[in-house]
Order: sequence, then C-alpha cells, then structure tokens
Amino acid sequence: MKIVVIQGPNLNMLGVREQQIYGPMKLEQIHAQMKEFADQNNVDIEFFQSNLEGEIVDKIQECFGDADGIIINAAAYTHTSIAIRDAISAVSLPTIEVHISNIHRREDFRKENMIAPVCTSSIIGFGPFSYHMAMIGMLQVMNEINAAKEARKLSAEAK
Ligand code: DQA
Repeated sequence: MKIVVIQGPNLNMLGVREQQIYGPMKLEQIHAQMKEFADQNNVDIEFFQSNLEGEIVDKIQECFGDADGIIINAAAYTHTSIAIRDAISAVSLPTIEVHISNIHRREDFRKENMIAPVCTSSIIGFGPFSYHMAMIGMLQVMNEINAAKEARKLSAEAK
C-alpha cells in the first residue's frame, strides 16, 4: 500500500511561520514521524510540497495508478482552488484533508473550503498531530476497502 502526502503553499515554512498558530515543529519533523508510523505499518509513503497550484494538480494526477490514498494539506489553496478540487475528484482515490489549525475558528475566508466536499474525510485543528490522525484514518479506510473487496471475491466464488 502506498500513500502520497501532499503539502501546499507555505507549509515548507512551518517552524518559522506564525508559531502561535502552527507551533514550532518543522515540516521535516512531521514527515519523519509519519515515515516512522508508515514503516511500522508496512506502508510506502512519499512526501511532496509545492507552493504552486499547478504542481499540486500534477502531483494529484500522478497518484492515479501509483498510490492507494492521498493525505493533503492544500493550505491556502483549500479556500480557493477549484483546480485542486477537480484533480481530487478526477483521480477518485481515498483522500484525507488535513489542517494543522482549526480553520473554522479563524478568519471568515478560511471557512470557505473547496476541497472538503470531494475528500473522504477532514482532520482539522489538532496541530501537527492532525497528520498522525490522518495516517490512522487512512489505514482504517484501506482496511474497509480491502474487506469489501474480499467479501465481493468470496461471494463471486460462491456463485
Ligand atoms: C492551514 C490552514 C490554511 O487556512 C492556511 O492557509 C495554511 C495552513 C492549516 O494547516 O492549518 O497555510 O492549511
């Protein structure tokens, strides 16, 4: 099983930017923790960060046929990007949206969310721990998909 983690604009500045909102942890530290958890669970994991909308769209498209699931923090593009939303819909992979801060408790423009309606689930406001929760959620989603596949196979064999 392979998960691709996609990080949007300014997340490469974690640990420096607005620490009162996002905390002191750097993106590399978050990724190291995710990698450790992935290794413990025999999951392949790839990390990608870009400040450019089109590059994020390209990366989501590349996941088609290559990954089993996507964990994405689209950062500011969450609130504006129909292109990223359409890319998530297009590849139709289990996708979990993550936010470090609680976007519902912040400025009104952050309440607008283009991505959430096309994602499997959203995990919001637990600080960097949101990413760990997304990993646990993704394993659960994969287990359910595999169990459903197995059940279909058994019922086809029984006919
Ligand atoms: C964020 C929330 C967004 O509103 C913001 O633009 C970000 C980070 C978060 O993880 O809390 O860059 O996605």
